[in-house]
Amino acid sequence: MTAAGGASALAGGNASMSTSHNAELSPRDFAAIAAIMHEEARIALTEAKTTLVQSRLARRLREHGLNKFSDYVALVERDADERQTMVVALTTNHTHFFREPHHFDHFRSTVLPELKRRDGPIRIWSAGCSSGEEVFTIAMCLLGEDRTSASWLRHADVRLLATDIAPHVVESVQRGFYAENTVAGIPEPYRSTWLRPAPGGFVMAEEARQLVTARVLNLFAAWPLKAAYDVIFCRNVMIYFADPAKRELEQRFVNQLAPGGHLYIGHSERLIGAAAENMISCGHTMYKKPEARG
Ligand SMILES: C[S@@+](CC[C@H](N)C(=O)[O-])C[C@H]1O[C@@H](n2cnc3c(N)ncnc32)[C@H](O)[C@@H]1O
Repeated sequence: MTAAGGASALAGGNASMSTSHNAELSPRDFAAIAAIMHEEARIALTEAKTTLVQSRLARRLREHGLNKFSDYVALVERDADERQTMVVALTTNHTHFFREPHHFDHFRSTVLPELKRRDGPIRIWSAGCSSGEEVFTIAMCLLGEDRTSASWLRHADVRLLATDIAPHVVESVQRGFYAENTVAGIPEPYRSTWLRPAPGGFVMAEEARQLVTARVLNLFAAWPLKAAYDVIFCRNVMIYFADPAKRELEQRFVNQLAPGGHLYIGHSERLIGAAAENMISCGHTMYKKPEARG
């Protein structure tokens, strides 16, 4: 599902431009918006994103009957709700099922057998989950290719947490509904086993949905997480942050992982800072936290 354009939409743009139907976004107003995005979500907007910001916020200006970005900036500076709406409008929610499939190959072949052997709770987090294709891909990997392969879950304490800063995508996870073209990329037999036809598309099977809890969470706020996590997926999220924010977040993920836990990051990302030194690489963009000594 793509709420407001894919990652590629972020590539274009030039500073201070206008079109007949859009208000002009001056460098000064762009800088004010970029500062708010950094403060609220640590999202780093460079001037190359001017066109993207202008087009995504055009509707916000229209809804408020504003003709000038300077008036919109003044509005978001005084109105916390509109500030949140703006942050969400400027997130990129592009995602799909079985994205970066080598992660799921590694998860099924290496991580899952380890988790199944172990007694005790299994906790997995999709951080920056967008509309849920990632977390439901993980759920389908846990359930396996048929109903028999899912039977181990009846006796296991397994929970998948899916979080995102954008409430509308979190609601999509909770609904578990996907359009036909979205589910087309799910390989068989997962698709026919774990999706049910519904008016206008498909819904995830109850067996998958009951594993998942979806919540709104800004990754730079306090995390209300009690458990240590066995696996964290934070993919194609940190690309939007500058290095200090990445460094801080990656170290928090390492701290939240149980010893021996795994972290998967997006295809164009890499660990930096202390997290890079503390984690063992298990292949491209896959990392393991060292087992506890003793
Ligand atoms: C491109 S999607 C990635 C979805 C999925 N992880 C994947 O790889 O397909 C990035 C998501 O990160 C979320 N996001 C961006 N900044 C965030 C923040 N500070 N806290 C939580 N989520 C954030 C966005 O709302 C968006 O849904």
